[in-house]
Formats: sequence, structure tokens, C-alpha cells
Amino acid sequence: MDNKEIAKKLSSLVQLDIDAVHAYKEAIEKVDDLQVREHLTQYRQDHERHISDLSAEIRRLGGTPPEFSLDFKGYLIKGFTSLRSAIGTKGALNAMHTNEKLTNKEYEAAKYWDMSPDLKQMIALAREDERRHLEYIERALEEKPH
Ligand SMILES: [Fe+2]
Repeated sequence: MDNKEIAKKLSSLVQLDIDAVHAYKEAIEKVDDLQVREHLTQYRQDHERHISDLSAEIRRLGGTPPEFSLDFKGYLIKGFTSLRSAIGTKGALNAMHTNEKLTNKEYEAAKYWDMSPDLKQMIALAREDERRHLEYIERALEEKPH
């Protein structure tokens, strides 16, 4: 892939991460369990870090990263819709489960993009974050049936 193509691919990940930050913000407001809230807050920060790291790479490649818009672009539309009607910790976790399954899928696919070893490494680390988010949410849903 040439630089322009790579920048475009990375931009789609940044947009996904922006949507994830918005989704986490909404989810966190619905969570009354302090421990779950702390985890979700950390995960929101991971997504914010992905945005700044990837945006720096996009600029380095000569591209312009997506702006951090206040509304989401629809990458996580299914999870957003269920967040709107979600009630309490379990509802929020269920919605974020839907969202994280998608971010996991996208980051898994990104691992195979043809790009520099440095970028591959960055994506692999972010992919590990995503795996961690999904694993925790699945565990929390099992432990908190209500
Ligand atoms: Fe995540």
C-alpha cells in the first residue's frame, strides 16, 4: 500500500476509535457499579490513546486525521442504538459488548494490512487492548446477571 492508502486505512480506525470514545462516555453514565465504571473509564482512555497515536502516524504519512467530532459517524450504530435504551450496568455492558465485538473485528483485520513493521506493531498493541476490553466485558456480564 502507498502512503495515501495507508493513511486512509488508519483514518477508518481513528473514526472507529472516536465512535468508541463516544459510546464509552454514554455507557459510563449508565453504570452505577463503581468497579465496572473504573474499567470502562480506562478503556475509553485506551481508545483516546489509539486516536492520538494513529493520528500522529497519519500526519507523518502526509494525511489529515479525522477530526474528533462531537457526534458519532455510525461505525458503531448498532451498539449506539442499544445504548440509548440501555438501563443500568448490565444494559450498558451489553451495548458495549456489541461495540467491542466490532472494534475487535476491525483491529484483527488491520493486523494483516501491508505496512511498515512499526505500524504493524502499533496496531498489534491496540488490538491487544481491544481483546482485553472485550474479555473484561464478557466476564463482567457473566458475573453480574442483573
Ligand atoms: Fe475497546
